[in-house]
Amino acid sequence: MRRLLSLLLATVLSLPAVPMAQTAASAPASAPLGLTDAARGPTPIDGTTKPPRLTNSVNDDRRLPRNYDMQPPVVPHRVDGYQIDKNFNKCMDCHARDKAEFSGAVPVSKTHYIDRNGRVLDRISTRRYFCQQCHVSQEPVAPITGNRFQGLTPQRTTP
Ligand code: HEC
Ligand code: HEC
Repeated sequence: MRRLLSLLLATVLSLPAVPMAQTAASAPASAPLGLTDAARGPTPIDGTTKPPRLTNSVNDDRRLPRNYDMQPPVVPHRVDGYQIDKNFNKCMDCHARDKAEFSGAVPVSKTHYIDRNGRVLDRISTRRYFCQQCHVSQEPVAPITGNRFQGLTPQRTTP
């Protein structure tokens, strides 16, 4: 396995060397091969970029349609400072199935109560405990690259 990995690594490492050497004279240093990565800007590939700070996430409470089957819905509200640790899960304060009627939040789906052996639990499954592994709030920024992805229709939302 290790041998295979180092072989692969060696192959990957050696790949860019050839074309870059060929174009080094003609292409500007910031855009080898004429490719620019919108996320990196002119920072060379071996440099480290400074990502912009996150600002205020979208908090308009409008649930967004899903782009593909089984996509975890994105979070349409701010989640700053919500405590999620072994003692407490703030998200479940509103999103637990028995709290949703009171809180007005979308209850987590049944899948979130199923453990890895397929057993249905009376509490959130540990597989789904850290909500933000899968659900993220959105930053109000323009996409940095174009995207022609088209979702499937009709979409299935949730079991
Ligand atoms: C104070 C109650 C409350 C808390 C706490 C809360 N939410 Fe929400 N959430 C809501 C409500 C209400 C909605 C329905 C849309 C809206 O009004 O924002 C919602 C919507 C959502 C949705 C969209 C669901 C869909 O199908 O579109 C996701 C995902 C979500 N929340 C995730 C989270 C996560 C993750 C946390 C914890 C980090 C969290 N929420 C904490 C109340 C809450
Ligand atoms: C491992 C990924 C993952 C984790 C962790 C996770 N979810 Fe989800 N969630 C999903 C997926 C995928 C869906 C859509 C399919 C489904 O419902 O199973 C979903 C659906 C939802 C929905 C929409 C339900 C509906 O009926 O439309 C809500 C609300 C939600 N999750 C909240 C949460 C909260 C709150 C937590 C943390 C306690 C959480 N999720 C943890 C993946 C995850």
